[in-house]
Amino acid sequence: MIGRLNHVAIAVPSLKAGIATYANVLGAKVTKPQKLPEHGVTVVFVELPNTKIELLEALGEGSPITAFIERNPAGGIHHICYEVPDIIVARDKLIADGARVLGAKDGQPAEPKIGAHGNPVLFLHPKDFCGTLVELEEVK
Ligand code: CO
Repeated sequence: MIGRLNHVAIAVPSLKAGIATYANVLGAKVTKPQKLPEHGVTVVFVELPNTKIELLEALGEGSPITAFIERNPAGGIHHICYEVPDIIVARDKLIADGARVLGAKDGQPAEPKIGAHGNPVLFLHPKDFCGTLVELEEVK
């Protein structure tokens, strides 16, 4: 079902410092910061020849990154993102298989949100996927 690895996301306490590490120390190309209020993050992408690294900084109240950084003050790997051809088909198959798709409410399955690349995304519970938060991104 899953296709290419789209990105690995690293939560950082300071996006500025993270950008400096990747751009200056590691010599990588880094995109401009993008605020995603609906996800509570500001992101940049490190563009590598075969994949991307997403650097995540907390944005606003109740950001999911705030608690993560409290537990991991230096930052750390936050999630991995796989591409799927149809996110609703993927969601419904995972639910039928008993996996937890984050964001379900009132007995209704989670609806995809629009991610940093303008594509629909969903997140899967880490306890169902080897202890790793998984993002699915629909890439046609
Ligand atoms: Co991501």
